[in-house]
Formats: sequence, C-alpha cells, structure tokens
Amino acid sequence: MRWWLWAVVVLTGFLAISCGQDSASEDVLDVPPDVVAADVSELLADVAEEGDLPGEVADLAVEMTDIAAEVADLVEPLACVPGITEQPLLGLADDTFEIGPYLMDARPQSIVVAWRTLDPAVGTVTFGPAETLAAAVTEEEATRYHQIRLEGLVPGTRYSYQVSIPDLESAIHQFVTPTNGQPARFVVWGDNQDGKETFALLQPQILARAPHAVLGVGDHISQGINEWLWLEQLFGPARALFHEVPFYAAIGNHEDNASFWYEFFAYPAADVPEDEFSESYYSFTFGSVFFLVINTNTVFFPIGEVDTPISAWIREQVASPAAQNATWRIAYGHEPGITESWSAGNCGYDGYKPVRNWFLPFIAEHGFHLYLAGHTHAYERAQFDNGLVQIITGGGGGGLDEWCKDFPETSVVYQNHHILAIDADCDHLRVEAEDLNGKIFDWVELDANQPGVLVDQGPADDLPELIVSLDSPTRTPE
Ligand SMILES: [Fe+2]
Repeated sequence: MRWWLWAVVVLTGFLAISCGQDSASEDVLDVPPDVVAADVSELLADVAEEGDLPGEVADLAVEMTDIAAEVADLVEPLACVPGITEQPLLGLADDTFEIGPYLMDARPQSIVVAWRTLDPAVGTVTFGPAETLAAAVTEEEATRYHQIRLEGLVPGTRYSYQVSIPDLESAIHQFVTPTNGQPARFVVWGDNQDGKETFALLQPQILARAPHAVLGVGDHISQGINEWLWLEQLFGPARALFHEVPFYAAIGNHEDNASFWYEFFAYPAADVPEDEFSESYYSFTFGSVFFLVINTNTVFFPIGEVDTPISAWIREQVASPAAQNATWRIAYGHEPGITESWSAGNCGYDGYKPVRNWFLPFIAEHGFHLYLAGHTHAYERAQFDNGLVQIITGGGGGGLDEWCKDFPETSVVYQNHHILAIDADCDHLRVEAEDLNGKIFDWVELDANQPGVLVDQGPADDLPELIVSLDSPTRTPE
C-alpha cells in the first residue's frame, strides 16, 4: 500500500474514534486519541523522509498533520498516564545568531521561536514533525527581536525547526510539544547573575536531566539595562539548552524592569492594562502543573483591604479552573517569604513580608503545593503549618550568602551552587536539589492524595558543609 494511502487509513480510523463511531478496530480504540494524532504525524514525517517526494505530497503531509492537531483539540483530556517521558536533548550550541534561537510559551499545539539579530531583518521559521521542515512562517516586518508563533502542532510530538533571515540560517534544532494533564519534568535555577562560569558548569547537568521546560526565579542578569549582559550571563551560557527547551523566567530586582526583559521574553501575560508591569506576571499550564509567576519588584498585593489590579488578577488565577483542575499548583517569584541566609555580615533581610504575610497564605488556601524563589544565594527548604513548601533555589552562579538566623519552618539550608529538578507525575511530585558535583543533597516528595504531607525528604546525611536549621530534628549547624 502506498504510504499516503496507509496514512489516510490510519487518520480515518482516528477520526472515526473521535467521532464516536464504532467502525475502528479494538486495538486502535485502546490508544489515547492524542497519541494516535502524534503517531499519525510521526508516520507522515517518516514517510516524507524516505525519498524526494514532490512538494504537493509534502504539503499534503502538513495538511494532514494540521487535521490531526485539530481533532486532538476536540477530544476529551486523557487520564494521566504515570511516568516521565524521557526526552533526550541534542545539547548542541549553535552560534549562527548571537542570541537564540530560543523557545518561549510552549503549548500543546503552538510554541514561540525567538532570536535576535544585529540589524532589523525579516525572519522565517521552517519546521515540521520529526526531521521534516515542510512548513514555514515568515514575519511581516523587519525586526531585531524575532518572535514567531508556530501553530497547528500536535501535543507530545517532536518537531524540527530552523530560523533564518536573508543570507543567514541557523542549524536545525528540535523541541517537543507538551501534553496537558500528563507528567512533566522541570529544572529550576535562580541568581546566576555575575556567575557566568559557574552557570556554564551547571549547563551539562541541566541538559542531562532533559527537562521539558526550565524555570528561572530571577536575577539572571546583573544589570538588566545593559543588553550585552543578557548575552554574556544568560543567553550565552544557556545557548544549547534554550535551543531545545522553553524558558519561563520570573523577573528579579537585577533585571531592573528593563525593556530588554519585555523584548526578549514572550509569555501569556496578565491582561491588566491598569498595571504598567502586568506583562511580567503570567500563568500557564505545562503537563500536570499549573504555574503562577509573580513580579516581586512591584505591587502584587492588596493595599489594606483593597485589591490592586494585580492582586485581583492573582485571586482570579488561583481560583481558575486551569489552576484548580491541575494535579499540581506551583507559584514562583524572585523574593522568598522567609530566608535564613543573607549577605556576609548582614542579617538585615529575612524575606519579603508581602510574600510571607499575604501571597503564601493565600495560595496555600487554594491548594498550591510549592512556592519557588531566589534572591537569597543559597538553597533553603521550608514548610509552613498550612502545608505549603517554599524552596529557595538561588544557587545558579552568583556569590553565595551566609546563614544568619533561624526560622522554625526552615529545615534545610545549604550555601552552594545547585539546580533544582522537579518531576511532576500523576500522583507524586518529587523535587531534587543537585550540587555542582552532581550530588543530590536534598529532596522532597509530595503525594497528591495527602496534601501537605512530605512522603519522602532529605537531606542526604553525608554532606559536611551542610547547615541544617536549628529546628531540624536531624542535624545541628556546624
Ligand atoms: Fe535578587
């Protein structure tokens, strides 16, 4: 049977299932609809690779992939299937362009590909499932900060892409679209500013985890108003990672609320025109997790009893069906609610009161599981009486802070450079903190059916430099 005829047969069977007809085979009925859609698109890509197919055939493959994507959007969400799908990364750094290409705002059926050119130019992204590059999107106007959304993608599917401007094209890169409601893996870091060498050393460890998305808790640039620092401290060291994995950053104080944050990043921003900083607030669903990202530099909290535009938006977000229907709810921002560490000889900072007194209790009331922050250049893990876990992961490369005070909620403090890895599975969420030597020095695991219970936790017991908070039942500071 000719390949395209076989593809039509498979796609027809898939459509029959989705429309509730019973003519499809029992075998196919056992396969989740979006998996069938992904399989169809991979099949089309595979056969398209097997020879020099005429352009019309390649176009047909793209059209059929689009149809599969539309059908996948119509079917009911699937039950969560346990287990993280491993997604090996290529890990190749391509310096065709000074910045990028990098990935933003990945959704099950679309993603933004971005890059920066030295001069304004009209950019194009070519892309396709598996190894194909049959589709293309071209900008309408010349720009230096290119952001092109690719639409009509199939969830859980690997794509190839290449960016170009006249006379210059990147290497071919790849990404995988997320699948809502399914397990996903994340890596988190913060405060890599002024630590580009250390941040570069952490890159192979991040790549080895092969996360589906990476999260930043701010202070990725020492002075956000200097554009060259964005290349030197963030886009340069993370070049290979950013080609393949979407980056979701919270803004820190060192980003200076600079225009470059808004030029480089493209997130589903809060629609709050009354607040001039609203683009630095956003929420998104990725896999089994609903994320809420806040800007702790500005007024995100109510003033007295009166909501500000952003605090009203936060209330809407935490109560939204997207948040409440997700298996896991994680918020992150730059400043922590409490911290035991700060600059050497200076204990003047112990966390940000609006985070501590309003934001954290409020999100805990609405079933959030985790709050991630940076600002303190250390690792700290705390759990509040309401069950919410706060983890400070400000060890991305900047100079380290010192332990200086005690909070009863904090159980582990470690002044080291590290990354955080999160596996958000169907019933369990596991966080691991990994140092520069690849040592997992602390971890915590949550069970979706036992809110507020840590079903497993560190720290490792063979770390001489570790400082465990005075309240820890297991160790004392050294
Ligand atoms: Fe900071």
